[in-house]
Amino acid sequence: MDETAAKKRLKFLSLEIKANDALYYQEDAPILSDAEYDALRHELIELEAQFPHLIAKDSPTQDVGAKPSGKFGKIEHTVAMLSLDNAFTDEDVTDFCSRVKRFLSLPEDAPMAFTAEPKIDGLSAALRYEQGVLVTGATRGDGRMGEDVTANLRTVNNIPHQLKGRGWPDVVEVRGEVYIDHADFEAMNAAQLGAGKEPYKNPRNAAAGSLRQIDSAVTATRPLKFFAYTWGEISAPISETQMGVVERFAQWGFDTNPQMKRHENAAQMIAHYHEIEERRAGLGYDIDGVVYKVDELALQERLGFVSRAPRWAIAHKFPAEKAITTVAAIDVQVGRTGALTPVARLAPITVGGVVVSNATLHNEDEINRLKLRVGDTVEIQRAGDVIPQVLRVIGDIEGRGEDYQLPLECPVCGGVALRDMDAKTGKQDVVRRCSNGLSCPAQAIEGLKHFVSRRAFDIDGLGAKQIELFYQKHWVRQPADIFILNFEDISKLEGFGQTSADNLKAAINARRTIGFARALYALGIRHIGQGNAELVAKHYLSWAKMQSALIEARSHIGEAWADLISVDGMGEAAAGSLVDFFNAPNNAAMIDALLKEVKIIDAEAPSSDSPVSGKTVVFTGKLEMFSRDEAKARALSLGAKVSGSVSAKTNILVAGPGAGSKLKKAQELGIETLTEAEWLARTS
Ligand code: IVH
Repeated sequence: MDETAAKKRLKFLSLEIKANDALYYQEDAPILSDAEYDALRHELIELEAQFPHLIAKDSPTQDVGAKPSGKFGKIEHTVAMLSLDNAFTDEDVTDFCSRVKRFLSLPEDAPMAFTAEPKIDGLSAALRYEQGVLVTGATRGDGRMGEDVTANLRTVNNIPHQLKGRGWPDVVEVRGEVYIDHADFEAMNAAQLGAGKEPYKNPRNAAAGSLRQIDSAVTATRPLKFFAYTWGEISAPISETQMGVVERFAQWGFDTNPQMKRHENAAQMIAHYHEIEERRAGLGYDIDGVVYKVDELALQERLGFVSRAPRWAIAHKFPAEKAITTVAAIDVQVGRTGALTPVARLAPITVGGVVVSNATLHNEDEINRLKLRVGDTVEIQRAGDVIPQVLRVIGDIEGRGEDYQLPLECPVCGGVALRDMDAKTGKQDVVRRCSNGLSCPAQAIEGLKHFVSRRAFDIDGLGAKQIELFYQKHWVRQPADIFILNFEDISKLEGFGQTSADNLKAAINARRTIGFARALYALGIRHIGQGNAELVAKHYLSWAKMQSALIEARSHIGEAWADLISVDGMGEAAAGSLVDFFNAPNNAAMIDALLKEVKIIDAEAPSSDSPVSGKTVVFTGKLEMFSRDEAKARALSLGAKVSGSVSAKTNILVAGPGAGSKLKKAQELGIETLTEAEWLARTS
């Protein structure tokens, strides 16, 4: 290529990459696959290497480390913004109602009111009003920390700057969904096309991109709307029921959803769901299901939360959208836990407004159940943010045998790939895993990507691409290496400059102190997701205490093990995986190295001012005033530990009628015993 052609091509590549960066980071609407985008960048880097004197100051290679997010300030949610559990069938809904009643120790046929309202497919926002005046507005973020988009939310037409009427609490945080309706979305896209720009993928992406504009004057030109449906911090109660609160929201000047209704039982809720499903296309905005909530707030309070979702609500999702396409190839990917996952490469097809070109095939048994072959026509489905799946092969599969087999060696490192035997059931695990652990590059790289990801160490400017590059250069092979990177070397890399190296250094240094739960989640231990990491952190409070307890529990027996599996909400599989991880010699060295670089902050003991905080409580006998689950959940939320057996460590025994040997033992040990009523009096 001669210099003139190179100049032209460089200009083209640079503009193309910037446009795609904007679509990805600002609009949340990428149009290129990662591979296509990488190819553009690669070509640019190569060409700039050939013609270094043509490198433009504003070339995208000069600011790889620049922060895409972090453009807004942060707002901490004093009341966490949670997610919802899902129901997919009518039966899931009846189960939900039964579960709620069982938890509250009410008979199955007890009357109980639930609200039902559409689940809006937008993005949630929290609006804080003080003395009736809008003071801040935030996105959900990770549920605990959101982005400060106050200026942008103020431009949304139906968000009041001053609450109407009277009687609002001094502080009230109104939460709901920001969305764009169908008519406005069509108009927006017509304008985009008219201006020669790429149309938005769907209303949700358009709404997300519009709300996260740096310039609120741009947001002001976007047709955003808001439905209010829940609340966060409030300085005084608003009503006694869910419905009552939403009615007050309407009086204060918010739009609330006209489809919201109150029902007395599961049958009415389900009927309402099907009615909304039928009217879905005519509502004028995207919804992806119906949300049911226990109406009485006192009951919501008793029901509380599990991990990240309330026990008193559930989202009944609409069936996934389906489409038909062909399978071009079956590739095998190796994930963070070494799982070999077959992936179907598809002829690209639009499903529910999004172009799909890959679908997971889960494992080899699944391929054989489908009797799938490359070249087949298949029906696929895509639901929400879930990875698309292949449902069935279309056409004649008669006579096809079960002959798909994943490679017996890891396609990345060549290590043996095995299907484990479950010790308990004696059955073979469906997943085939590479047995090379972190010495397999795929596992190491995926593990490192997870380590720096948003919900883990959240290091700005250190994403998948940089991790891959640093791994290949042998600069980052384990988490601790991130903290001893040589920034001088980095500043000399193609695509980096002094500024991005400095930014990266600052972003890494900002994470040298980190919360317990985040640090634990970042390690990517099987079964230890965010929820379990939080449970573990709240249980042990300090990292050092956790480590010594897990080492003591190494044989999966004894007190330390019993203590770990008594953590409410954590199963034995998660406990086992956690213990094994901390007892593996390689991991111990990896964690030691990390602890030399990073200070892990102790978790906070939940409500330490409660009279039972830090106490170990045992419930025994037939409980009549509350269910065992409720008793346990309440004790845990007040910072107590709940144990199944009485020992010298027990502080309080709560004994219902018919208590036997545990009561006797507690009395012998001189442990305080309470009746159910006494327990309630102490804890409410
Ligand atoms: S209630 C504690 N109601 O769904 C419960 N959420 O999957 C808080 N959403 O993050 C949520 N419509 O963004 C609720 N009518 C509705 C909703 C709704 C949409 C979204 C919301 C939330 C997500 C949870």
